[in-house]
This record gives sequence, structure tokens and C-alpha cells, in this order.
Amino acid sequence: MKISASVLATPITGLGSLLPGISVEDIDYIHLDVMDGNFVPQISFGEAICAEVKKLTEIPLDVHLMVRSPEQEVPKYYSLKPDFITFHAETTSFGVRLAEDIRKNGSKVGIALNPGTPLSLIENYLPYLDLILLMTVDPGFYGQSFVKSGLRKIEQAKKMIEGTSILLEVDGGVGPGNIRELHNLGVNISVAGSAVFKSGNPAENSRNLKHICKA
Ligand code: DX5
Ligand code: ZN
Repeated sequence: MKISASVLATPITGLGSLLPGISVEDIDYIHLDVMDGNFVPQISFGEAICAEVKKLTEIPLDVHLMVRSPEQEVPKYYSLKPDFITFHAETTSFGVRLAEDIRKNGSKVGIALNPGTPLSLIENYLPYLDLILLMTVDPGFYGQSFVKSGLRKIEQAKKMIEGTSILLEVDGGVGPGNIRELHNLGVNISVAGSAVFKSGNPAENSRNLKHICKA
């Protein structure tokens, strides 16, 4: 299990002292939750803040765009060379073209689905995808509880991507109490906001989450 730590769950002003000490052995990705105040209620940050975060760490970036106009927003992140750029299936009818463009610009393509969005929405463009991000909360805020129907959807998604190299990422309400179950279901990457940043030491918290999966 890899951990993608969402910095949404910690004050952005503290990242300058938090991030530089953290090794990629402990936190696999820095998850950047970009929110436009339109697709989701809140505005978080955009490409300028993401570029500042990048300067603080060697850990690869996992950009999650919760924005209404991905065609317009996605290209702003190419210069950051994130490992993954993920946009929401609910926000575009041109997923294939956008996915091709992301790959052409050197990042891997992620597609995100809200808890209420069926997997059938993306089954016709799987070859263009590198990662499926299943939201297990309605996006917009950290610290929400895991939506239980997510477990069944994870099983369905695993079946859908069997035989492909597409990775499965889960985002929302993941912590020490449920990460083992996600691991057992074959989830490759777990996003963790509160579980990593809310209390204690982020590197240690992330290590602990990985440890729980192995135990
Ligand atoms: C929710 C974001 C998540 C969130 C996760 O809209 O996409 O990445 O920060 O936070 P936790 O782990 O606290 O649910
Ligand atoms: Zn996210």
C-alpha cells in the first residue's frame, strides 16, 4: 500500500517546516487537493501554491483536481511534472482527449469518481487511464467519514481493471481502522489527510498506516 498524504488537512503555512524532513520511504506521494469553489463548495489552492509545495519536497506529487473546467485547469499543472494528474469524470465529456494530453505532457492520468458516480461512466476509456481514484466521501472537505458503499465499488473497480496496469486509489475517510481492509481488497494507493496530518508526526503516522497493511 502506498500513502498519498493530503496537505489539505494541515495549515499550508506550516508546510515549510513539516515537509522538508519527510522521506519518500515514509510518504509515497504528496496529494494536492485543488478545489475551485464551483465543482466543490470550497476553494483550496491552485498551481502557484502547488509549485511552492514542490520546492519543499522530493516526494512525487499526486494532483487531484476538483474543478468544473478541467480542460482549462489541467494544463496549468504540466510544468510541475506531477506523477499523477487526476480530474473528475463528472466534469468533462472529453476525457479521452484530456487523458491523451496529460500523457503527452509527461504525467500519468487519473480519473476520479464521486461516491454516487457509476463506474460505467469510464469503462469505455480505460486504455487512456493510468489510475482510478474512487472517492469514498463526497469531495470538498477533509475529515469526513468513509462512505461504506465504497467497499463494493472497490471490488467492482478491481474486476473492471483486471488484466490492465491501471492503479486503484481511494480518497476520503481512510485511517488506521479501515486501511487494512482496503489493502486486502487490492487498493494500491490510499489518500490520507487527517490520518497523516491531524496529530502527531506525519512521517510516523504514514509509516504506521503502511505497517497496519503488512501486519
Ligand atoms: C476530499 C479530498 C481528500 C481529503 C482527504 O475532498 O479529496 O483528499 O483531503 O482527507 P481525509 O483523509 O481526512 O478524509
Ligand atoms: Zn483528494
